[in-house]
Amino acid sequence: MISLLVVDDERSMRDFLKILLVKEGYEVETAPDGKQALALLDKQAFDLVITDIKMDGMSGLDLLNSIKEQFPALPVVMITAFASPDDAVFAMKNGAFDYISKPFNVDEIKTVIIAATSKTSALAEAKSISAQFPEIIGESREMIKIFEMIQRIAPTPANVLIYGESGTGKELVAQAIHRLSQVAEQECVPITCSAIPEELMESELFGHVKGSFTGAISDKQGLFQLADKGTAFLDEIGELTPIIQTKLLRVLQEREVKPVGGTKVQAVSVRIIAATNKILEDEIMAGRFREDLYYRLAVVPLRVPPLRERKGDVPLLVDFFLKKYSKAFGKEIQEISSYAMEVLMKYDFPGNVRELENIIERGVALETSNIILPESLTLSSFRTSKTNPSIPELSPFQIVASEDELFERGLEEVMAETEKLFLNTALEKTGNSKMQAAELLRISFRSFRYKIKKYELG
Ligand SMILES: Nc1ncnc2c1ncn2[C@@H]1O[C@H](COP(=O)(O)OP(=O)(O)OP(=O)(O)O)[C@@H](O)[C@H]1O
Ligand SMILES: [Mg+2]
Repeated sequence: MISLLVVDDERSMRDFLKILLVKEGYEVETAPDGKQALALLDKQAFDLVITDIKMDGMSGLDLLNSIKEQFPALPVVMITAFASPDDAVFAMKNGAFDYISKPFNVDEIKTVIIAATSKTSALAEAKSISAQFPEIIGESREMIKIFEMIQRIAPTPANVLIYGESGTGKELVAQAIHRLSQVAEQECVPITCSAIPEELMESELFGHVKGSFTGAISDKQGLFQLADKGTAFLDEIGELTPIIQTKLLRVLQEREVKPVGGTKVQAVSVRIIAATNKILEDEIMAGRFREDLYYRLAVVPLRVPPLRERKGDVPLLVDFFLKKYSKAFGKEIQEISSYAMEVLMKYDFPGNVRELENIIERGVALETSNIILPESLTLSSFRTSKTNPSIPELSPFQIVASEDELFERGLEEVMAETEKLFLNTALEKTGNSKMQAAELLRISFRSFRYKIKKYELG
């Protein structure tokens, strides 16, 4: 139930609002002044405060300031007199969620309350759903969508194709789907398609009978027999060779397997969770992946977004990895400096969560103080991502990891590397047009040409 605190020094107004809002289904407390309001806020959690501005003693604006200090996330709606629009402007500047001016109509106040509380309830919902996935850190809208999707599809037998860049957490998502599935008590049998040579792949997937090839010294069960009536996790599915793709498709269609060298088929029922960091549609277009197999696997396609599309999760992940590695390395580091955090927020993580984890692991190992400073962050050199159309802001820490490194390599070398990266970025963005690249960098065509010759960039 959503609880509201109404603050007004006029009794009739308090009573009017209370009756109105209780009828709307809210839980309502009232306070006659700012002091008593703050006392109530100390005792009880509210979702929204509605306060008059003009009150004797502590004004509504003073109350707003105190609330923003002590409960920064709590929305506050101000009631202003129609005649004083300046108060409203001032309140908004000081963090009020919105204001309504007296005399107000009932619909207006209802709309404002719904707007103010739906934000908090969305946040609470995000927290409660992400709590059900303690191993997957994230409260961004993108991750919430993934959690909801996992909850919806996990109990069904539908095959799932998880795709996304390397290091985004596809394997964690696959495990979570299995954990919430009907067959969770069985093992989820994994296989990494890229790690197995084609000659062995068929036997790994479907098993073999003794003597079917050199080295087949006994009958062997394949993935499909082992995972029967359960889940199989096919990682890096984009690496399957055409022959194996065809055989796998047949198994999925017929729901039966024949071991290598065998004559009898066995009925199997396996739910497949596949993962890939390739865009399979592109692989299909290029003739490298069978379209019919794709549709069998991607009954539910699930995209795990790259970390740069959910930067809001970076602080949570940093916190999680700091705790993990502080503990593992027996250190007391619980914090990261705000400048170091800023550096991370600007970075675009080509290696996604795995890269962030490595950065923090290394940072904890290197740091000698009890707070991570930018100097302890080693980001891979400045990179522009193809999917990010704007030229990323340059941070010196993206070229060199630390002041020490800068001094060691010298300004000349570091500046040259910076220059090279920008020249390359400009060339890439303009499809190798030197004229446009020079324009983009705001230097003359002649000096651009001189520089790319100097660095042998083409
Ligand atoms: N949201 C997350 N919360 C906590 N840890 C994460 C998260 N996402 C990824 N990780 C960690 O990052 C690393 C990489 O994750 P994972 O192996 O699932 O990535 P992947 O998408 O399968 O990558 P690849 O395509 O390279 O196989 C793992 O150590 C994993 O625990
Ligand atoms: Mg993986």
